[in-house]
Amino acid sequence: MKELIHYIKQLYQYTGNIMVINLLGMVVVSFLDGLAILLLIPMLSISGIIHTANEASRVWLFLDFLKDLPAEMGLPFILGFYVTLVLVQNLLQKNLSIRDVKIHQGFTNHLREEIYQSLLHVKLEYIIQTRKSNLVNSLTKDINRVSMGIKMFMQFMTNILFTLMQIGIAFWLSPQIAGLVIVCGLGLAFFSWKFVRQAKNLGKESTDISRAYLAGITDNLNALKDIKTNRLENSRLMWLKSLNVKMLDEHVKFVKLQTSSQISYKTAFALILSCFIFISAKLFYTQPENLFIVIIIFSRLWPRFVTIQSNLQQLALTVPAFKVLLALQNETKNFMEMLHDNEETLYMNKMIECKNVFFKYNENNTSFVLQDINLQIPAYRTTAIVGQSGAGKSTLVHILMGLNRPQAGEVLIDGISLTDDQILALRKTISFVPQDPFLFNTSIRNNLLLMNPEAPEEHLWAALEFAAADFVKELPEGLDTPIGDRGIRLSGGERQRIVLARAILRNPSILVLDEATSSLDSDNEMKIQMALERLKGKMTIIVIAHRLSTINNADQVIVLDKGRILQKGEYVQLANDKKGIFHHFLKKQFEVN
Ligand SMILES: Nc1ncnc2c1ncn2[C@@H]1O[C@H](COP(=O)(O)OP(=O)(O)OP(=O)(O)O)[C@@H](O)[C@H]1O
Ligand SMILES: [Mg+2]
Repeated sequence: MKELIHYIKQLYQYTGNIMVINLLGMVVVSFLDGLAILLLIPMLSISGIIHTANEASRVWLFLDFLKDLPAEMGLPFILGFYVTLVLVQNLLQKNLSIRDVKIHQGFTNHLREEIYQSLLHVKLEYIIQTRKSNLVNSLTKDINRVSMGIKMFMQFMTNILFTLMQIGIAFWLSPQIAGLVIVCGLGLAFFSWKFVRQAKNLGKESTDISRAYLAGITDNLNALKDIKTNRLENSRLMWLKSLNVKMLDEHVKFVKLQTSSQISYKTAFALILSCFIFISAKLFYTQPENLFIVIIIFSRLWPRFVTIQSNLQQLALTVPAFKVLLALQNETKNFMEMLHDNEETLYMNKMIECKNVFFKYNENNTSFVLQDINLQIPAYRTTAIVGQSGAGKSTLVHILMGLNRPQAGEVLIDGISLTDDQILALRKTISFVPQDPFLFNTSIRNNLLLMNPEAPEEHLWAALEFAAADFVKELPEGLDTPIGDRGIRLSGGERQRIVLARAILRNPSILVLDEATSSLDSDNEMKIQMALERLKGKMTIIVIAHRLSTINNADQVIVLDKGRILQKGEYVQLANDKKGIFHHFLKKQFEVN
């Protein structure tokens, strides 16, 4: 429940007094509605449909003047008044409904933006440890359910006000009858708590199933190629079938809950109303006018009770989504990389340094992935990082860019320790080609422009040329060729070259390449190597490569092994150190080739 209250408070902060004004507007609407109902009695009485034996009915108190009017004027007057009242009430209602939608949809959008923005600024470690499909689920289904819940809450509040108003009028008309109806209503509320609790449990079940479905289906669709080649179609189908059974079960439970609660209320209504009419007519010989009031009060109040109950039930269904969303918002807050984006840019002039850096991905692990790292990466030079798979090369460049923060030691830029703010300012000048780069499902042009939206066409071609990606020229649609999900319509090497072109287009002062040319043939690799050679002295280049031929122009080579630096120095110096591991690597690759 506290999650719901949290979001209602947020809603109030977002809308301010507009929300209160809307609720007050609803009070006016319900008052007018009650008034219109009251008018039915004099209407029917004047027209002679029912006979008021005496003038005890309170309705006459404020319609006394009608008695002085001739009968033929009284009826048209009261009918006209009734129609006007209903019209005004409905126009007001329409206006309020539109304002309500704006409030609630506006707040939903605000929430969606807030969560998306916090995910954009969250630390990498949070993304690594969180299942992406859960985030997708939260940003789609959970948000929709929260939005639904907020709508239900507003309806609930409106209904409460409406009902209070109607109760007031009912009391004024006949305190005894109204009192009895309310007692029955409270009985209903007590009785229906069971349904509300069941709805909440169902809501939790539904959240879990929906997460499992989205997670599984995302995985399976991504792995379609592997599923086909390994002939896993049947086992994957069985997975969906078993989940389908659960989904069906959950839906049936939901409908059962809804219908059985409705049956209970409707039967209760019929029973209580019959008892009332029987008692009033047979035992107390109530006048028709009062009997009429009984029916009016009942038919006005009872459906309200039922609606309130159904609002509560639906609200309960959405409570688990409120929980999930609030948990997500709190988590992302704790993992925030920055609170505000400053516009500054930080240029590195001398060097990036690591001093006694220790890092591990999981705090609970005993061993570190990087240990006692001390190194200097001079500006405007090329530094290569080599080592066996799993040695910690990618982790190290992530540390240099502040994507991961060391548990011990520090990273310094020109001798000054990096703060969170500086990392972001520094990242503006870095282009990074990761080992598993991402391309958006759009054209090559849009993928490039994403980095530098103002770049003219000749810059796009220059960047492509740098990355030996002139194959784009030969494509029938050229720059406008769509490349599919993650660039699936391109070959592995073509994808790598587009990503490299994209990195160059940003015109960085530091270029970081993690296995950026690993899928290329030696011809194209040579072209890129020569292009990088031309950049020497103009920008700082950090290259990770398994193929040592790619790094023979490096000014400095750092050899990592099991998270430690084994060797560092100039390429030639390390190559000639016959006892060193780098010499050993070179020899091995030479033999293979
Ligand atoms: N997100 C992660 N969570 C936990 N451990 C990780 C994570 N990423 C990498 N590791 C571990 O950290 C170690 C270093 O990984 P890293 O990716 O830095 O190696 P690498 O030298 O880049 O290897 P490769 O040449 O295969 O790319 C590995 O043992 C790996 O299992
Ligand atoms: Mg790596």
